[in-house]
Amino acid sequence: MPKILLLPGDGIGQEIVPEAVKALDAVARRYHATFEYTTALVGGAAYDAVGHPLPESTLQQCRASDAILLGAIGGPKWDHLPVALRPEVGALLPLRKALGLYGNIRPAVIYPSLAAASPLKPEIAAGIDLVVVRELTGGLYFGEKKRELVNGEERATDTLVYSAGEIRRIGRLAFDLARKRRKHVTSVDKANVIESSRLWRQEIVKLGAEYPDVALDHLYVDNCAMQLVRRPSQFDVIVTENMFGDILTDEASVLTGSIGMLPSASIGGEVALYEPAHGSAPDIAGQQKANPLATILSAAMMLRLSFSMETEARAIELAVRQVLEQGHRTPDLAQNGERPVTTAGMGSLVAEAIS
Ligand code: IPM
Ligand code: MG
Repeated sequence: MPKILLLPGDGIGQEIVPEAVKALDAVARRYHATFEYTTALVGGAAYDAVGHPLPESTLQQCRASDAILLGAIGGPKWDHLPVALRPEVGALLPLRKALGLYGNIRPAVIYPSLAAASPLKPEIAAGIDLVVVRELTGGLYFGEKKRELVNGEERATDTLVYSAGEIRRIGRLAFDLARKRRKHVTSVDKANVIESSRLWRQEIVKLGAEYPDVALDHLYVDNCAMQLVRRPSQFDVIVTENMFGDILTDEASVLTGSIGMLPSASIGGEVALYEPAHGSAPDIAGQQKANPLATILSAAMMLRLSFSMETEARAIELAVRQVLEQGHRTPDLAQNGERPVTTAGMGSLVAEAIS
C-alpha cells in the first residue's frame, strides 16, 4: 500500500492539499487502490509549532514514505527570521538537498478551454506542450555565500558552481524524457558570459551524442525567455540550471492561463516530492480562492512517476480537463463575467469527474 506523506505547509498549502487528497481518494475508489496518508509539519507552520521549519521528525517521515505531496511554504509572517530559519532557505532547499532531488520536472500545457485566460494571443498560446527540467540541488542556490565588510562597505557573494557530473545527470533526465515525447531537447544556458554555463553546454553536447535520435539545440537564457512568449509551441523539453529554471518556469506557467495550473515533480532521490510550482499566496490564504489544480495535477504526476499508475494518473488529468471544459473556474482563471468556484468546490468537481 503506497504511503504518502502530506506536507500542507503554509498559506494556501493548507487549502489545496486536501483537494488533491480528494482526487486521490476518488482514484482509490474507482480503481480499488489504497493509499495511506500521514501528515507532517513543514515551513512556517513547523517553525510556529516546534521552532524549526524542517524538524528532524519531518525529514524522517519523508524518508519513511513512498512519495511526498507538498502544498507551499513561506509567508511574510516568517520573513523577519534569521535566514537559516526562514521557510524557503531553512526548509524547502534543505529538504530537496537532503532527499537528493536534483531533477525538477515542470510541465506546462495549455488546455484549449483556458486559451482566453492566457496572457498570450490565442494563436500563440495554442499548442503549448512543454516540460522544463530544472536542476534543483546545485548552482547559485547552494553555492557558498557570504557577507563581509570591505573598506567599510557591505559586500555579499553568492557562488554558482556546477560539476560535470551534476550537469550530466540532469541532462540524462531531460534526454530520457524527450525520448518519451517529441524527441527535442533545448538546453538553456548563458555560455556567452558564465563559466559554469560553458561547462554546462560542453557536457550537454557530449551527452547529446549518446542520444542521436533526440534533436538538441541551445539557447541563451535571455533568448529563451523571449522565445517562450514569442513562439512557445517550439519547445518540447527545456533543460536548464537551478536559477534559470526557477525564473523560466514562472514564465512558462502563466502562459497556460495561471501559475495555479503548473504541477511539479522533484525526483532523483530515494523518495520523490510533488508540489505545485506556485508559492503560498499569503494574500489569498484562508479565503478559498486558491486554485487547487496544480496540486491535483502534481498528485497525478505522483501516481505516474512514483507508483507507475499511468491509467490512474490519466484519470485525474482527464477529470481536470473535463471540469475546465465545463466552464468551472477558480478566481485566477475566471474571465469577466464568469462566476468563480471555491478551492473546495473545484476539488469536489474534479473528484466527481474522476468517479
Ligand atoms: C520554486 C520556488 C522556490 C525556488 C522558492 C520558494 C525557494 O520559487 O519552487 O520555484 O526558488 O526554488
Ligand atoms: Mg519559483
